[in-house]
Amino acid sequence: MKVAVLGFGTVGVGVYEMLRNARCLEAGPVLVRPGKDDAPFKVTSIEQIAEDPSVDAVAEVMGGIEPAFTYGAAVLRAGKHFVTSNKALVAAKGIELNAIARENGAAFLFSAACGGGVPFLHNLSIARETDEILSMGGILNGTTNYMLDAMQRLGLDYEDALKDAQRLGYAEADPTADVSGLDALRKIMLACAVAYDKLPAEGLLHEGIESITAADVAHFQARGYTCRLLAKGSRAGDSVSAYVEPVLLRAGAPECAVLENYNMASYLGQCSGSIVLMGQGAGRYPTASAVVRDLTCIQRGKKYMLEPGCAHTDADNSQVKHAYYVRLPAELAGELPAESAELDGDVVRMITKPISVSQMHFTAARVRSAEASIFFAAIGG
Ligand code: HSE
Repeated sequence: MKVAVLGFGTVGVGVYEMLRNARCLEAGPVLVRPGKDDAPFKVTSIEQIAEDPSVDAVAEVMGGIEPAFTYGAAVLRAGKHFVTSNKALVAAKGIELNAIARENGAAFLFSAACGGGVPFLHNLSIARETDEILSMGGILNGTTNYMLDAMQRLGLDYEDALKDAQRLGYAEADPTADVSGLDALRKIMLACAVAYDKLPAEGLLHEGIESITAADVAHFQARGYTCRLLAKGSRAGDSVSAYVEPVLLRAGAPECAVLENYNMASYLGQCSGSIVLMGQGAGRYPTASAVVRDLTCIQRGKKYMLEPGCAHTDADNSQVKHAYYVRLPAELAGELPAESAELDGDVVRMITKPISVSQMHFTAARVRSAEASIFFAAIGG
């Protein structure tokens, strides 16, 4: 199977090298921006790939929704299989691409878009055929895990931890999606689509790590907690619950052992019980390995991860409740029901009574709209 590659950045170079070394795959042309076509295998127009009868499949690793969507639709309409590592693309346009693929008898797989090298969506798409997926989620962003680990274990400050994650190639070109939790949210959206045939589009909640301070880390570290950014998804009546937020975990919780850029993705099956998968969730070769794994799955007859009936839905995050650690200005402490609270200068550090995910996230948005600073993390395992 001859594979064209769209994009020649961190992951694109890895995919191309793996294709060159693969036994049953052949490296085809690589689409690059005009001016970068300095080698015989590089081309600058999607037509050169869509109209090339020798190309069987296309791997998209450019990122962004456009022109990735237009290019993906074009090659699928030309009957070529399409695999992508692009979570923004699949979260926004996955249902459309899946329909175009099915109309044209071409395959559409995207397991590299969630968990990097960790075969999470791959396993989920198989497990859901015979088991009921009760819940799923985990550490799905390598950048923020690297940063939280470096802040807590190495004592780095936020900016230095982010610079290191960027230098190591974990962060997106614009790291806002990583640190805000949006990247992890897109990944759990894809997991919901695969497991439940529902791609949540509205009502999603994501809190990242942008407002964490060294004082927060010192406070919960002294009390035996480790902070991790967790994504969670589950059924909620006819809808799904899907959100991302920092969580404080007691020593011994498996997520505490997830260091550096590693991801830990898990699902709870009615029959299987808890299944946990761990590996590198970001970086050149881990992500490239997932792209190439999808291509070999196509060779073995797997064509889709989304059912034809997969549809957009509104998420419902009002049913799940947790206690939260919250740091906010002392004068705003009355915004939340406190189980316990400590005054620390002009801020209060409190543990709330159990409240819904939506109440916590909406309260934080209200506090921030008053130009005040707040950090919160659910109290987990
Ligand atoms: N920026 C992403 C991360 C890359 O840090 O996890 C892999 O999706």
